Amino acid sequence: QVPPGAPSLPQSGQNGGVPVSAHKLIDGKAAAARVLLQVREDVARLHGQAIQPALAVILVGSDPASQVYVRNKILRAEEVGIRSVEHRLPSDTSTEQLLILIGQLNADPAIHGILLQLPLPAQMDELRALEAIAPDKDVDGFHSQNVGGLSQGRAVLTPCTPSGCLYLLEQTCGDLRGKHAVVIGRSNIVGKPMAALLLKADCSVTVLHSRSHDAQALCRQADIVIAAVGRARLIDASWLKPGAVVIDVGINRIDDDGRSRLVGDVDFDSALPHVAAITPVPGGVGPMTIAFLMKNTVAAALAQHHALRSQSEAVCHSIY
Ligand code: GUN
Repeated sequence: QVPPGAPSLPQSGQNGGVPVSAHKLIDGKAAAARVLLQVREDVARLHGQAIQPALAVILVGSDPASQVYVRNKILRAEEVGIRSVEHRLPSDTSTEQLLILIGQLNADPAIHGILLQLPLPAQMDELRALEAIAPDKDVDGFHSQNVGGLSQGRAVLTPCTPSGCLYLLEQTCGDLRGKHAVVIGRSNIVGKPMAALLLKADCSVTVLHSRSHDAQALCRQADIVIAAVGRARLIDASWLKPGAVVIDVGINRIDDDGRSRLVGDVDFDSALPHVAAITPVPGGVGPMTIAFLMKNTVAAALAQHHALRSQSEAVCHSIY
């Protein structure tokens, strides 16, 4: 998968000891397929115990990108044996109406995961809606209880995109302990949970954002760069230490000589000769997000059934 004419790899031992993988391109599609294979096996085991994992997906409005994401999530769920239920609400839905639906899904024991596709239309209170989702069904990991649990290093449902990025980093670099990771972007969906996961993995973490002074020089110190700013090709070779490992979370649509195409937050052609490894866009982080959504749904189903079983055992003990 190394493009023709790509320069030779840096030697192992460069880049502060981050071992160099055989190829420079980090193949998110292949990694996601491995995760989904494991998920499929876990789902089959749950089916064997008469448990049907189920995911409810809520889409409010008609944002074209969100429609594509939701369709892909539902298709992937079906492929791995997870039942999916789609709820489409019109763009003039009020927060109260959305909260009623979330309440019904929270109370439904046949639903294990609830995903509220973001962004919501401007009139809606996003934070209130996310807080209404039962934390044990919060497969996005956006509820404050899960956000807090992650920052304390507890085992909670964690956001899918950063979890996928961490998986790719572990596969590429092996041991992450002591590595300097720079996260560019501080969103609640990617930047902040990414920083928390990297800290949990014993990295030294720097978070850069629009107000950072001399972001480029700080980024150049990083062994690992996670770009999640949403600005097409912002990060070029001048931001990167030779031999860095780069994860590009950006998905930006640009006009390229009259042709529309997707590019990341990293200027791929500029970065490639400098890096030890890099995710392409598309085909890097994107497939990992859905794979980890499926993984979280199975984890949620399992946890809810354990909780139900121990509740019913407690009732039995109290009766006899
Ligand atoms: N919109 C963009 N990314 C995400 C995500 O990871 N989860 C949800 N629910 N909405 C998104």
